Amino acid sequence: MSTRRNEILKELGLWPVWRLRGPPAADNTAEATIPGIAGASPAIVSRSRSAGASPTVDALSGSAGASPAFQKRSPSVAGGAPALPLDPRAAEFMGMDWPQLKASVAGCTACPLHKDRNKTVFGVGDEQAEWLFIGEGPGADEDAKGEPFVGQAGKLLDNMLAAIGLKRGKNVYIANTVKCRPPGNRNPEPLEAAQCEPYLHRQIELIRPKLIVALGKVAAVNLLKREASVASLRGKVLAYQGTPLIITYHPAYLLRSLPDKAKAWEDLCFAVETMKNL
Ligand code: URA
Repeated sequence: MSTRRNEILKELGLWPVWRLRGPPAADNTAEATIPGIAGASPAIVSRSRSAGASPTVDALSGSAGASPAFQKRSPSVAGGAPALPLDPRAAEFMGMDWPQLKASVAGCTACPLHKDRNKTVFGVGDEQAEWLFIGEGPGADEDAKGEPFVGQAGKLLDNMLAAIGLKRGKNVYIANTVKCRPPGNRNPEPLEAAQCEPYLHRQIELIRPKLIVALGKVAAVNLLKREASVASLRGKVLAYQGTPLIITYHPAYLLRSLPDKAKAWEDLCFAVETMKNL
């Protein structure tokens, strides 16, 4: 194993040997909730936490990007999802290309968050990525730079990506549920998230990712439109506007809660397995 990989796994608290911590959870398998892949193999739609199926460090030795399955889009889930009725402004964004959408975000005054922002944080990465990671909203570093996840949490996110053979900007796109920093790093209000959602929606239409990974409860709740804990949402293939969606912990939370890094690692392994089968 390379030194770099060891460093990443150390950073994640998973080295030298990763073992599942604690007994298997009661909900041993979690049913998929995405109809488009209902007929797929059980490996896609459920996660066994039994010893045999536990992800190991070696299980990740192959780069996720190397699988031929990563070369194709799944038209049943990613391509043909009809637009849900969102904000009335959604119609305005529907035909926009990238430059138009970026310009629209840069000049947005639809919610009060625009008043305190320094820069809008549109999103960054490969505009044809198969992987889309969605956080909650920019913090101070991101507001200053105009790029998502550039602070401490961003460093951890980069390490999490590297641990599964991914790299910011290479087959990965990173965005947030809101494009402007909520003052004092508070959570975005539902109204603010709702005003910003048509932008995210159009980004997803343009990117056509195969899999979305929501980082943390705020992102998950805003995407799913229902209250739930990350703990209750992990290990399931959910859906956002027809695209498979997996939930894991927010990197900023993981910086404060080291034991949950192992759970995030499980989630990443689950995401890789899910992606392989899409
Ligand atoms: N936290 C987020 O949710 N998004 C960012 O861009 C940075 C920190």
